[in-house]
Amino acid sequence: MELKDYKIHFAPVQGHTDWIYRNLHEKHFGGIDAYYTPFIRVEKGNGFRTKDLRDITPEINRVGELIPQVLGGDPDELRVMLAMLADKGYGRVDLNLGCPFSMIARKGKGAGILSYPEKVAALMDVIGAFPVLHCSVKMRLGWESPEEGMKLLPVLNEAPLKAVILHARVGVQEYGGEVNREAFRAFYEGSRHPLYYNGDIRTLEDIREVVTCFPLLEGVMIGRGLLANPALAMEYRENRELCRENRLRKFREFHDELFEQNGERLQGDHQLLMKMKTFWEYFLPETDRKVLKKIKKANKVTQYNDAVAEAFKE
Ligand SMILES: Cc1cc2nc3c(=O)[nH]c(=O)nc-3n(C[C@H](O)[C@H](O)[C@H](O)COP(=O)(O)O)c2cc1C
Repeated sequence: MELKDYKIHFAPVQGHTDWIYRNLHEKHFGGIDAYYTPFIRVEKGNGFRTKDLRDITPEINRVGELIPQVLGGDPDELRVMLAMLADKGYGRVDLNLGCPFSMIARKGKGAGILSYPEKVAALMDVIGAFPVLHCSVKMRLGWESPEEGMKLLPVLNEAPLKAVILHARVGVQEYGGEVNREAFRAFYEGSRHPLYYNGDIRTLEDIREVVTCFPLLEGVMIGRGLLANPALAMEYRENRELCRENRLRKFREFHDELFEQNGERLQGDHQLLMKMKTFWEYFLPETDRKVLKKIKKANKVTQYNDAVAEAFKE
């Protein structure tokens, strides 16, 4: 067992880790030191989307530590977002320099900024102007090549950052292909800030292996691995895996409450089914393929419930 108490952070996953999900995850499983919101961005006219604002409303968020994430790119937009969060009383924020989608990257936002050290430096200056907001950066190894991330190290090392979370892929890989542990190591050795490893952690063994390979980490950030097995962080903390029976029971309770709360929030069965089908994109991947297909094809709540009952059958 490791001596150091490594932290586990729940990665932001747009479409999945909204406030209902985060609250219920902590209630049913826990084991997470901090949850992140999917990124918030500024709309034309310096406004925000209602959906984004609701997701960070303190009154409805019940997890122990919630870190709002903002999309990085334009210094003026960053100023608007940080001012809004400071105004709402937040003391922590995360800057997204990792989103790989071309619509965003093309505008020099998310991972699209990683090839431009001077632009990243301008964002770090804005962060420096908001000392009340302890800021972390969530980034990738680079846009096209890990050398880009290495060139950013001096800029990042000088910046007043709380932490760096590094997804061990480059932007052009999006979410596929292999993670690059060697390139991660080069950054790890040069980084002065507390560092979190991110990318393809799926099992308890994966967590243990990463912290053994990189003992100076502050912790790990996990996204899809937790969506697939929401008990993963709890299992790591307790140093034991749930037995199949307990796992299915806990998963069922979690699922049912998600279904209920999303049903209260969303309008109509169609929206609810869309939401729950998204949930099943990663959840319980060992589910029989035919059953998963039934869930995905369900267009009535009764059909959905029948298919889900099969998925949870022991
Ligand atoms: C559908 C989807 C949505 C995502 N949304 C965000 C986001 O809003 N902000 C962010 O920093 N990362 C986002 N990510 C990236 C994850 O946070 C994480 O870095 C990535 O999935 C790799 O970690 P994992 O292998 O543990 O999932 C998203 C990933 C996926 C697949």
